Amino acid sequence: MNILILNSSVLGDRSISRALVGEVVQRLMRASPGSTFVRRDFGSEPIPHLTAANVAGIRADPDTITEHAARHISDELISELRAADTVVIGAPMYNFSISTGLRSWFDYVLRAGVTFSYSESGPKGLLTGKRVIVVKSRGGSCSEGVGRELDFQEPYLRHLLGIMGLTDVTFIRAEMTNYAPDVREASLAAARQAIALLA
Ligand SMILES: Cc1cc2nc3c(=O)[nH]c(=O)nc-3n(C[C@H](O)[C@H](O)[C@H](O)COP(=O)(O)O)c2cc1C
Repeated sequence: MNILILNSSVLGDRSISRALVGEVVQRLMRASPGSTFVRRDFGSEPIPHLTAANVAGIRADPDTITEHAARHISDELISELRAADTVVIGAPMYNFSISTGLRSWFDYVLRAGVTFSYSESGPKGLLTGKRVIVVKSRGGSCSEGVGRELDFQEPYLRHLLGIMGLTDVTFIRAEMTNYAPDVREASLAAARQAIALLA
């Protein structure tokens, strides 16, 4: 099995999603010894955001050096994604959505004609047969009250992945990470239990 590991927390060693992503990978490696993996960490090594200077490298024909550099990054990220059987994503909630580092990755891999195509019935994913495991971390609650409505993280991720045909998505949820220690620990224990049950 080939695993693509994408972390995107900016909280370094204190990151909860990064720690749980590590546990997911350990679980996968135990189930499939000899698996290979490729790692990206957008929290410590971000890819450049889209700008007027580089966007044509991804969404048109590259011409300038900057545009060619963007096309090169996009090709590399897509080839890592294509080669993966399983993608493990660490996705902390920042300002009710995903981190800008992870959002940038989507800007580079969502390429019409490459990872999805347009059809009369809407976008059609060109990447199929992959499993995605997302570790979603959140300071507040996403399972009750107003927090449910203010979750622009999980539905958004499902949608972006689905456009490329990545529909086999499992979410591991670590919520209330900024609550009192006992609440936080109970939530982390539930997340760890969900990881232990991963096939
Ligand atoms: C810049 C920033 C913005 C955040 N925004 C939210 C938010 O909108 N809602 C929320 O519930 N928690 C928010 N949090 C808390 C994080 O979701 C929480 O600390 C989570 O555990 C982060 O995952 P990580 O430890 O892997 O980075 C925010 C944290 C940071 C650093």
